[in-house]
Amino acid sequence: MRIDIISAVPDLLQSPFNHSIMKRAAERGLLDVVIHDLRAYGLGKHRQIDDYQFGGGAGMVMMIEPIANCIQRLQAERNYDAVIYMTPDGKRFDQPTANRLSLLQNVIILCGHYKGVDERIRKHFVTIEISIGDYVLSGGELAAAVVVDAVGRLIPGVLNDETSALFDSFQDDLLAPPVYTRPADYQGWQVPAVLLSGHERKIEEWRYEQSLKRTQERRPDILK
Ligand code: 6GU
Repeated sequence: MRIDIISAVPDLLQSPFNHSIMKRAAERGLLDVVIHDLRAYGLGKHRQIDDYQFGGGAGMVMMIEPIANCIQRLQAERNYDAVIYMTPDGKRFDQPTANRLSLLQNVIILCGHYKGVDERIRKHFVTIEISIGDYVLSGGELAAAVVVDAVGRLIPGVLNDETSALFDSFQDDLLAPPVYTRPADYQGWQVPAVLLSGHERKIEEWRYEQSLKRTQERRPDILK
């Protein structure tokens, strides 16, 4: 999968994809994240990318030309399955959306800033609008990093244990069960005995019960 991210603050996106699972995905050639500095497409000698909004009002709006030029240049090189715009008024991101996106080959993600982008970008270029939750961030970059991480780890071969994404919280509408590692006894705080029993079926049953209990207590809204 290839993901092209268009941003006015590309530095914000340098670190998130260079560690851990995202790094491994890149090294294995499974996920290619390419970051584009919108400023490089800015207008005039000041490389302008935003301007005052028509009709008046506070806040700058990202202009259509730099974004359109960047998107069109990419689209001339390959076919894109989606052009995603990160915006607080988009559709709330969730696991089913991550699953769907992980099946795509080429995706553009446009990060909004200031008051957002000229509406004509959204109308004519954007195919999916995503928000990561009901709160406002200064820009779409951190939200884009969240989406790329959630999607990237679902690409087959990215996780070492192929099954482990299947047991993630939310993947089956249940939260994940508690986990423990050594020592089995930390100053009297014991690991549940069943996990030390070696009895696979009992362990599986216990984990399922714990998942159910956790979901009932914390997220009854996602229980089917
Ligand atoms: Cl995608 N962008 C911004 N600026 N704020 C957000 C968001 C996105 N999702 C939640 N808040």
